[in-house]
Formats: sequence, C-alpha cells, structure tokens
Amino acid sequence: MKRLDGKAALITGSARGIGRAFAEAYAREGARVAIADINIDGARQTADDIGGGAIAVALDVTDQGSIDRAVNTVDLAFGGIDILVNNAALFDAAPVVEITRESYDRLFAVNVAGTLFTLQAAARVMIARGRGGRIINMASQAGRRGEPLVAVYCATKAAVISLTQSAGLDLIRHGIHVNAIAPGVVDGEHWDGVDALFAKYEHRPLGEKKRLVGAEVPYGRMGTAEDLVGMALFLAGPESEYVVAQTYNVDGGNWMS
Ligand SMILES: NC(=O)c1ccc[n+]([C@@H]2O[C@H](COP(=O)([O-])OP(=O)(O)OC[C@H]3O[C@@H](n4cnc5c(N)ncnc54)[C@H](O)[C@@H]3O)[C@@H](O)[C@H]2O)c1
Repeated sequence: MKRLDGKAALITGSARGIGRAFAEAYAREGARVAIADINIDGARQTADDIGGGAIAVALDVTDQGSIDRAVNTVDLAFGGIDILVNNAALFDAAPVVEITRESYDRLFAVNVAGTLFTLQAAARVMIARGRGGRIINMASQAGRRGEPLVAVYCATKAAVISLTQSAGLDLIRHGIHVNAIAPGVVDGEHWDGVDALFAKYEHRPLGEKKRLVGAEVPYGRMGTAEDLVGMALFLAGPESEYVVAQTYNVDGGNWMS
C-alpha cells in the first residue's frame, strides 16, 4: 500500500521544475496526477514521462474560463480532486523606481489571483464530492521579508502566505486542509532566469548570484526540487491531518519563523 493510493492530484505549473518533481513523487506514491500548465507541450511530455495514467491539462491560471475547464476536466477524468498544488508562478526583479505596471499586474495575476481562484475552483469540487482534500500553496522565503530588487514578487508571496491562512481557516470545516511551503533558493530553470536578472541589475557575471546565494544557505548549498518532495508528501498525506493554515519553510535554514 502506497501512501497516496487512490488519490487524484492536480498540480499547476508542473511541466517542469518543482511542480514536476512533486507530480513524479505523488505518482510514485500511487496518486493519479494531472500536469496542468500554460506550456501544454511541456505538460504532455511530463505526463508521458511519468506514465501510469498521468494526464496533461492546458491551464492558464490568469484566465477564469481556463481554470474552470481544467478543474472540471480533472474532476471528470479522476472522479474528484483530492490534492491541489498551487505551484504556477512568475518571477521578476527591478529596482523600485523601475517597476512597471505591466510586471506588477502580471505577477499578481499569476501568483495571487491564480492561486486564489484555482484554490476556489478546486475547493468547490472537493466540497461537492464531500471527501475533504489537501491544498498546498507554493509560497517562498520571499514572502517572509522584502528584498531591494524583488518588491513585487515578495509582495505576491506574502499574499500567498496570507491567503493560505484565511483559506485554511475557512475550509477546514469541510475537511479541506490548506497549507503552504516556503522554499528558499531552489536550483533549476527558474533560478537561471533569476540569476540573469541579478546579473543585469547588480552588474555580475552570469552564475555568480547563484553561487553566492548557495554559499549563504546554512545547509551549505542551494536546494533542489527533490529537497521539497518530503514536505509535499507530508502535506498531501494522512500524517498532516492536524496541520491547518500553516506555511513551512523548507530552505536549508535560511529563514526562521
Ligand atoms: N525555484 C526557486 O528558487 C523557488 C523559491 C521559492 C519559491 N518558489 C516557488 O515554487 C514554485 C515553482 O517554482 P519553479 O522554480 O519550479 O518555477 P518554474 O518557473 O520552473 O516553473 C513554473 C511553471 O509554471 C508555469 N506557468 C507560468 N505561468 C503560468 C500560468 N499563467 N498558468 C499556468 N502555468 C503557468 C510555467 O510554464 C512553468 O512550467 C513557484 O510558485 C515559485 O514561486 C521557487
């Protein structure tokens, strides 16, 4: 008996990176997984690689119609949704005096509104099916404190932590557990983009910011997507039954709260 046998999981932004690692781990533990991403080709490839009944679903979390279609598709395909991971997000960086409305609107649309309205659609399905559920939001150490070049992304992740608290307190009466993971610095394609932005604004060679942030982690290196899998399994499974509205730091010791 695997720990997620019989469970159906919808993971947003799971064509690559951390979401993909969570999908692979949930599938290994017996869950049927839906790879939902704006990058549908990437989602199809990931679902094919995982196999075992994994499906790819087109999803743009900034589009309410797309959210509703994706959630209904997964609900019908799997006979319900037991686990939602709100993982899709965008990053941007700029000094405060250079932040554009366009960047602000886009990051809040994906990271905050996308998280809330996907959570809402999945929660409605979970309530209708009457068997509770698990919702895991991806926050960040960036949501714990501001950073000079990262004002907008930090604000979106602080909002994700706040939404996790409010939704967690509201939905637990339906047996729906809402919690969040706050990673630190996780190596991968996402951080390649972050590194390039810091190279531009801090006048560094490419790769130097990654090396510096890795060296500053108390554990001694940047994280990997696999480093987060244990927490993602814990929050999706029965061991976290009494855990409600929390955000867990999984960051090698970067932040304490
Ligand atoms: N990598 C890190 O260092 C780090 C640190 C803290 C928090 N996080 C958070 O973890 C999560 C995953 O990060 P990652 O490093 O795997 O990022 P990533 O950029 O590698 O993956 C994000 C995925 O989201 C998808 N996506 C983007 N916009 C979308 C939209 N509108 N609708 C649906 N899908 C969309 C992308 O296609 C991509 O597959 C994010 O919420 C991120 O903010 C990452």
